Amino acid sequence: MEVRVLCFLLFVGSMAKEDMERKVFIFPRQSISDYVELTPQLTEPLDKLTVCLRTYTDLSKSHALFSLDLPESWDRHMFDIFQAPIDYTRPTPFHAFFVYINNSLAYSNAQAEVLHWRHSCVTWDSDTGVLQLWVNGKVYPQRVLQKGSSIDLQKGISLGQMRRNYGTGWEPESSFQGEISDVHMWNEVLPPETIRQVLINNRYINGNVISWRSLNYTLNGDVIVQPKV
Ligand SMILES: *[C@@H]1O[C@H](CO)[C@@H](O)[C@H](O)[C@H]1NC(C)=O
Ligand SMILES: *[C@@H]1O[C@H](CO)[C@@H](O)[C@H](O)[C@H]1NC(C)=O
Repeated sequence: MEVRVLCFLLFVGSMAKEDMERKVFIFPRQSISDYVELTPQLTEPLDKLTVCLRTYTDLSKSHALFSLDLPESWDRHMFDIFQAPIDYTRPTPFHAFFVYINNSLAYSNAQAEVLHWRHSCVTWDSDTGVLQLWVNGKVYPQRVLQKGSSIDLQKGISLGQMRRNYGTGWEPESSFQGEISDVHMWNEVLPPETIRQVLINNRYINGNVISWRSLNYTLNGDVIVQPKV
């Protein structure tokens, strides 16, 4: 009982809703206990979306960036954005971007260089199934997946960790190490001009599902908030 009360207090104590302008989440090590939970401002299922975020890492292994926490049955990747070497047998700084929607996987062989902040946006429209991946203002060849599907936000969102396909824990090989900043999510597909404004961090463009300038988050493990350098 006492333990439960303490856990509750710790949970409430680490909750916040704040303007994160010029701040980053630092993930100091690769550990399945380190992640940040985000509470969306909307809870209706999404049939269109845009997610943008900035990341900085020198990891050469696969790592999760953004993940929808799944309800009861964790046997599906409902919505995940992660990076991994195309060739799993050989760690390499050249990562492909992977996006899961309802267990369907799309990837783009993004040969982005390391030791740079990387600004990524994913858009998806269930009417057509069209998925766009933007990296540093450039769009990759469009993919098509999960036409007619929708994405449930009820259980919230995680940064830096991805649910295991089968079982109840995190995918152990996907923990993020590095820095994450400027996370926004919308319940619509942003036009290219707007995505370019997000890239330059126009302070008047903020997500209506997740807004970095009004973020309700919970830190887990050793993740800390620091000024951006
Ligand atoms: C996910 O895909 C399965 C088929 O693989 C489908 O039955 C289900 O309705 C889809 N879920 C959603 C939320 O669209
Ligand atoms: C933050 O999210 C929690 C649920 O995770 C909610 O109970 C709380 O009211 C939210 N806080 C604010 C300030 O919106």
